[in-house]
Amino acid sequence: MEAFEDYFKGAMRSENVLLDKITHYIIKRKGKQMRPMFVFLSSKVCGNITPATYTAASLIELLHTATLVHDDVVDVAHTRRGFFSINAVWKNKIAVLVGDYLLSRGLLLSIDNGEFDLLRIVSNAVKEMSEGELLQQEKSRLLNITEEVYFEIISQKTASLIAACCKSGANAAGASADDQQRMYEFGLKIGLAFQIKDDLLDYGFGEKIGKPIGIDIKERKLTLPLIHVMKMATAPERRELMNIIKRHNTDAVKVKFLVQRVIDLGGIDYAREKMESLRDEALGILNHFPKSDSRDSLENLVHFTIDRKK
Ligand code: IPE
Ligand code: IPE
Ligand code: MG
Ligand code: MG
Repeated sequence: MEAFEDYFKGAMRSENVLLDKITHYIIKRKGKQMRPMFVFLSSKVCGNITPATYTAASLIELLHTATLVHDDVVDVAHTRRGFFSINAVWKNKIAVLVGDYLLSRGLLLSIDNGEFDLLRIVSNAVKEMSEGELLQQEKSRLLNITEEVYFEIISQKTASLIAACCKSGANAAGASADDQQRMYEFGLKIGLAFQIKDDLLDYGFGEKIGKPIGIDIKERKLTLPLIHVMKMATAPERRELMNIIKRHNTDAVKVKFLVQRVIDLGGIDYAREKMESLRDEALGILNHFPKSDSRDSLENLVHFTIDRKK
């Protein structure tokens, strides 16, 4: 990860004064960097880290950063990684353009290194992520989301990229098509668990997560705990909860009541159980690979995905 750090910084550098300022701002506040870790460990589990692994990790972290910059515009979120988001400091117009710039740098880096398998794997994820975000917007307007649609959304917007991490890591190590597919499936499962965890963190149980909490209900994004409770609730209760989401989603007292109902009716526990069974399925796939230090590390990263506090 230390070696990656320099490589990644270099990939972002710009001569443009404003871009240079903003990319420095982003680099100073780096995130958990779980996606590059998934790329590196997937390479190691399937063989060895190669120069292609570094390119994959950089492209994916650049793309991830770009999606966060855009996502905070879409979600009207003013904090990210414990500081002001790009849109909060420089406004939406600049944030949209910077997101595009970061993605283009990642694409150029991959083209310069002739990594066309990587470009195919990642472009597919980019397409899925855009579709997922759009489906989510549509559902937040209509509010007719089912558990099935929720899984479709999180599979597209989040799991597809983590699957791309694991597949491109395997590809960079020269793994067989079968092993690449296996790593892809592994990434999809842990990517779903990753987003369920993110949605649980949005309920804000005391920890400082470095971004706004309660923003999902505010933005009328219905996530698994609430979807489950809506399904289980009696008709009058469902109407009451729906009324809060539709008409009082910025009223702190009413939202607090809704959150308490989600807890009391077992929504949080239900989501946690789903997340844990996805984790176990992911770990099951890893068992196809020979036991090694790197497989142990990847297993630790799986556990971190579920146990993390931010
Ligand atoms: C946040 O991802 C966006 C989601 C897909 C939920 P991370 O939690 O990995 O963000 P950083 O990079 O660590 O800030
Ligand atoms: C993940 O969903 C969005 C992306 C895939 C970029 P969220 O909107 O919940 O992510 P956070 O909570 O803002 O990081
Ligand atoms: Mg968001
Ligand atoms: Mg979130």
